[in-house]
Amino acid sequence: MNMNDDIRPLAGKKTIVIGGSRGIGAAIVKRLARDGAAVAFTYVSRPDRARELVATVESEGGRAIALQADSADASALDRAIAEGAAALGGLDVLVNNAGVLIFGNVDEYRLEDFDRMLSVNVRGVFVAAQAAARHLPRGGKILVIGSNTAERAMIAGSAVYGMTKAAVARLVRGMAWDFAHRGISVINVQPGPTTTDMNPLDGPHVDWVRNASPEKRIADPDEIARFVTYLARPESTYINGVSLTIDGGYSA
Ligand SMILES: NC(=O)c1ccc[n+]([C@@H]2O[C@H](COP(=O)([O-])OP(=O)(O)OC[C@H]3O[C@@H](n4cnc5c(N)ncnc54)[C@H](OP(=O)(O)O)[C@@H]3O)[C@@H](O)[C@H]2O)c1
Repeated sequence: MNMNDDIRPLAGKKTIVIGGSRGIGAAIVKRLARDGAAVAFTYVSRPDRARELVATVESEGGRAIALQADSADASALDRAIAEGAAALGGLDVLVNNAGVLIFGNVDEYRLEDFDRMLSVNVRGVFVAAQAAARHLPRGGKILVIGSNTAERAMIAGSAVYGMTKAAVARLVRGMAWDFAHRGISVINVQPGPTTTDMNPLDGPHVDWVRNASPEKRIADPDEIARFVTYLARPESTYINGVSLTIDGGYSA
């Protein structure tokens, strides 16, 4: 028992973040570790960023393990979750953050891009939940990062991305029922525009996006991470099967 356990609400908890090397996922990894959780996370294309993140967490006294697994590859994803849970000695919270955005109007959208979007953003969420459920105890949590675009399109080119996030919102509702008998809750967090590599500050739509929200700003990834980490805490009870939007009023 660490002296700081009373101020570290996730002390002793074991967590896995799918897609944790950059952006919102990396912010979640850092927050979970600062709250006392041991964290394993997956990455796919940026081992350099994954290594940097492990070093950052360790320099703050936390524990992080990086595992390479493409969420589109069901067996790699399944294996990473098994390896992560084995290395941590169990699993209390899964955060499925991995997602891809291939923007484009439907009339010119390539079928292979459509399949890639579905395989990472929807099938990956399903596979990770199934794999994590083999390890989660009563009180365990599955948190998914969706998007407020599940609710509102507002711009051409987001049909396929928004469809995947709407699918995730519905999957989460069903999973809450399916896992209820095991005491596992399932929650979908729907961020609005957030500054990351997916949505860079020099991107083509940034000014438009900023002006389309009541707060006239784009979130910092840590704002999303603080919310997700709150939901991961054991005292965050009776929240289940729901999509919670955090977008500064963008969908209002
Ligand atoms: N940024 C926004 O404005 C925004 C708004 C609403 C929702 N979201 C959602 O939030 C989540 C994170 O977005 P972000 O903006 O932080 O994205 P990002 O900056 O592009 O980072 C994506 C992260 O997911 C990982 N990843 C991507 N594809 C993966 C795959 N096939 N298998 C495993 N890991 C994969 C990446 O790993 P590598 O580093 O190895 O590539 C990286 O760590 C996504 O689900 C996204 O849809 C984002």
